[in-house]
Amino acid sequence: MSSSLGEFAQDVLAGLARSGQRELPSKYLYDDLGSALFEAITRLPEYGLTRADERLLRAHSPGIAAALPPGAVVAELGSGSGKKTVSILESLQARTGHKPRYYPIDLSTSALNTCARELASCAAVTPIEASYLDGIAQASALRTQSQPLLVLFLGSTIGNFDLSCAVEFLAALRSRLSPGDALLLGADLVKPVPQMLLAYDDPTGVTAAFNRNILGRINRELGADFNLTAYEHEARYHEPARRIEMHLRARSRQRVSIPNPGFRITIEPGETIWTESSHKFLLSDLDSLASRSGFRSILRWMDSQWPFAENLWSAVE
Ligand code: AVI
Repeated sequence: MSSSLGEFAQDVLAGLARSGQRELPSKYLYDDLGSALFEAITRLPEYGLTRADERLLRAHSPGIAAALPPGAVVAELGSGSGKKTVSILESLQARTGHKPRYYPIDLSTSALNTCARELASCAAVTPIEASYLDGIAQASALRTQSQPLLVLFLGSTIGNFDLSCAVEFLAALRSRLSPGDALLLGADLVKPVPQMLLAYDDPTGVTAAFNRNILGRINRELGADFNLTAYEHEARYHEPARRIEMHLRARSRQRVSIPNPGFRITIEPGETIWTESSHKFLLSDLDSLASRSGFRSILRWMDSQWPFAENLWSAVE
């Protein structure tokens, strides 16, 4: 594919032009509008994931802080505003009597600015504008030898990776850490299928808007002519892989052109574009993920209202 095309255009063309199931990478759901719609999803009564994650962090931050070696510093993958992390930083401060060092890692400059401003009272914040793995390499190089690193990967974002990519990603993360460093991994657990489907197909229609916005983004940024109302939002549970899939199903035949590289496709009635996978975990899946990627599971906390687990892993030799 032409190297003069941007990465977004290349990924869109590769995903839409393929024979078989058309796909778009889920990272493109999050432009400004998509991020605002995701923020709205986290407030939906049907989507308990974020509230469970926050409840666990609030309730168990002292236990998390107590399980870490003294002098620990914190790095967070995809920190956003960092608001979930306040209780962990406060617990570390209560233990040591001084503000812990905090490296929020994000691609969004505005999120990092908000984070640095709002968390200044509970941490010494060093924002890192980078991808996850580059950011961890930078944070790891900045801390001193006497400062073990706690990496936070919250909100079950690991569930948006395919299983093999999750193992590969966690192993790459481990390779940037030292033995004794720790990872706190938030993971959404398997629950009754109707409950999982409702969380990804809410009656208010926010998740449908979040999903359709990926086509709107292609229109805005690449000048395409997707008719958003011609696609139905669909959430399905793929039992063997324990994942919710989001698709956009064409209600009728759709001819779409993306003018920039002069690209046209026809999408047949009923055909879908697969936009996201959200894996749900069994506790045994998490143990196997840890051991396959060079970590040992040390502690785990689970929410009583919404099956979700906060997992504290230690990097092994
Ligand atoms: C960001 N991620 C963990 C969310 C999830 O549940 O997979 C994204 C999301 N997609 C639809 N609703 C929420």
